Amino acid sequence: METERIEISDWGDCFLKVLGILGAHRKDGITEKMLATVLAGVEAPNQTDIIYLEDYPFKPDRKDQQDPVLNELEQKMLNSDVWVLAAPTYWGGLAGKMKDFFDCMRERLVRIDHLGGTHPDRFKDKHYLNITDCYTGAFENWVTGVTDQSFRTIDKVMSAAGVIKLHELVLTNTYGMSELPESKKQTCLEWGKRLNSVRKRDDSTVKRYIELFFMIAFMAFVTMGIQFGFHLVPRQGFWISYLSFVLIFYVLLGSILHFFTVVKHRRR
Ligand SMILES: Cc1cc2nc3c(=O)[nH]c(=O)nc-3n(C[C@H](O)[C@H](O)[C@H](O)COP(=O)(O)O)c2cc1C
Repeated sequence: METERIEISDWGDCFLKVLGILGAHRKDGITEKMLATVLAGVEAPNQTDIIYLEDYPFKPDRKDQQDPVLNELEQKMLNSDVWVLAAPTYWGGLAGKMKDFFDCMRERLVRIDHLGGTHPDRFKDKHYLNITDCYTGAFENWVTGVTDQSFRTIDKVMSAAGVIKLHELVLTNTYGMSELPESKKQTCLEWGKRLNSVRKRDDSTVKRYIELFFMIAFMAFVTMGIQFGFHLVPRQGFWISYLSFVLIFYVLLGSILHFFTVVKHRRR
């Protein structure tokens, strides 16, 4: 453990460590294949490591004693920059092993205040990519959201820990599947390659929403200015119409963009 920590601090800024975590019943299943393909896209000098949770008999910490297996897993997570979290959807939710892992890690993933509230702590600003799969077909999954709950659970935990989401990958129609379809293999590989250019701190979501606000304010001003100039709208109350339009349009557009880019994105 100590050796690894020295290595990271010596080389910490030169390369990324990408840690794959697999929470599935099968070590050689299709979920593992997606994870392995993503990791295969990571190029030297960046490094990869993989944790198959079934190999780690962790238990919740006790008041008087920390679980040594959790200590080991926590250290691996601290020593890495990007986590690829892969778990199938079981019974419409996140596979139990991954969920149990998050449950046991709760007090390590976040700082808990005196009221029991959670706050990002030592894992803040790391990055993650999540993977899930299901027997359900692509269209049915898109409509009914079979895998939504799995993603939502991971996102909830990561957001509490302040870990930044990069992307999510889903594979449908997995019944009887032993090899990844070529297109999915390429997508996984491409995302693995993209991990090579992750910068250690780059959450620009707030910046993007601020930019969106000013873009809408500018475009609405030009549009309404033209309407006003050509007498296409009543001449009274320009500013109140303008301000209410910008605010309402911004909230609606922001919500729909968030829904399609974050919630529904690629759940097919
Ligand atoms: C216990 C269990 C429960 C599952 N529940 C669902 C489910 O509710 N909906 C679904 O579409 N697929 C379900 N599946 C299929 C898995 O999501 C997954 O796609 C499949 O196990 C392939 O992953 P693997 O090869 O990595 O094991 C389930 C599989 C198992 C073993």
